[in-house]
Amino acid sequence: MKTLKNLFLNELADMYDAERRVVKALPKMAKAATCEELKNVIHAHTKESEGHVTKLDLVFQAFDEKPRLNKCEATVGLLEEGDEVMVEFNGSPAINAALVSIAQKVEHYEMASYGCLQEWAGLLGNKKAADLLQQILAEEKAANETLTKLARATCNREALGEGEASPKAKVEAKLPSPVRGIRPASGSPDREKVASRK
Ligand SMILES: [Fe+2]
Repeated sequence: MKTLKNLFLNELADMYDAERRVVKALPKMAKAATCEELKNVIHAHTKESEGHVTKLDLVFQAFDEKPRLNKCEATVGLLEEGDEVMVEFNGSPAINAALVSIAQKVEHYEMASYGCLQEWAGLLGNKKAADLLQQILAEEKAANETLTKLARATCNREALGEGEASPKAKVEAKLPSPVRGIRPASGSPDREKVASRK
């Protein structure tokens, strides 16, 4: 009979694999970034992710289990999609916004996974494991918030073209939001207008 402990160990092995993939993928993303602050944030999170691999080792130990890997198909998919986006937006003003979005998709997957793992470790009565998982979860949430702030402060505006203070961006900044940035619902008469503005 499969129980919560089996589910916990499966998911733990999944995240052990995911973090190792993330540690390899983040330096490529830092290299692709043209925003120095984003490069620094990605480098810092690479170090944190290496620490997560170590902490996950300790979580396995807290359950008297040897660390094991379970191929994390979700992370493989997110990183493959990220590779495609990086190639497509390489050299464009939207590259940093694209990188933030790739990183945030990975962060949200990690946050969901660690949220469950931390809860389950508590239910399984393993306080040491629950504490370690809580520490990882807090770092993932903080990294995600830093990315949101950075996107709002620079990357998204740069992607709009406002970084270069183009006349078009200045005019658009004064327009109401449905025309400026939010894609109208399908069938809306504004949709064609927006398309023709490109
Ligand atoms: Fe992360």
